[in-house]
Amino acid sequence: MEVIIQPNHHQIASIAANIIRDAILMKPNLVLGLATGSTPIELYKSLVRMHREDGLDFSGVTTFNLDEYVAIPLEHPQSYHTFMAHYFFNHVNIPEESQHIPQNTSENHEEFCTTYEDKIKQIGGIDIQVLGIGTDGHIGFNEVGSSLASRTRIVTLSQSTIDANAPYFNDDKKAVPELAITMGIATIMEAKQCLLLANGNSKSVAIAKAIEGPITSMVPASILQMHPDTVILLDEAAASDLKEVDYYNRSYANKLLLQSQ
Ligand code: GLP
Repeated sequence: MEVIIQPNHHQIASIAANIIRDAILMKPNLVLGLATGSTPIELYKSLVRMHREDGLDFSGVTTFNLDEYVAIPLEHPQSYHTFMAHYFFNHVNIPEESQHIPQNTSENHEEFCTTYEDKIKQIGGIDIQVLGIGTDGHIGFNEVGSSLASRTRIVTLSQSTIDANAPYFNDDKKAVPELAITMGIATIMEAKQCLLLANGNSKSVAIAKAIEGPITSMVPASILQMHPDTVILLDEAAASDLKEVDYYNRSYANKLLLQSQ
């Protein structure tokens, strides 16, 4: 795990956007795993800016989103379909047929989940998976207690996730869907690289447990300790409960030094 700590969330987004830009320049048919939530919004803004101002070409890129609520219409203002269109897909040139988001409207969810996994495999796997983290350490909608070997499936949202998302549903907890489709933890772990972003004090405990605690299904993000290429991008607030900050900072400084030689 590489842990990069920056003064604020703008710098995190900019480093993440640079990693994705460099990957697209190296491999124009990059397969990107995408996340929703407030955390990656700034990253999407940076990528849109790179497309508009520097001509970064997304025409060969394929995307797979982590998750989607079940039982709200795709055009609902809080669906992840709406989110992705609003913050990213409407502003870059990824062909519509290359954008994949779990469908919450299919008649046969099980079949849909298997097909989603198959599509990822057929294209050769996800090159870079963008991740946020829940305040309890969940990734995607893999709630606390999810099997570390789980694949794309239907899950019941935890009360903590429902509470965290209620503000987006006019603070009406009953309006937050109970069910979601999410890529599994094993699906995420097969991505060649994972980029996990977190900012703000509310994430500091989950981040400390995920990076420095034991690997456990009680903190789903802790499985990333077993991933061969994960970069964790944090602002100082999200890093405030980590014990080894000095080591992470020295490691990153040395990496930059080596790159500049
Ligand atoms: C939801 C999403 C996750 C996201 C998390 C944190 O549970 N399914 O993918 O990481 O919220 O969201 P935020 O970035 O808004 O804190």
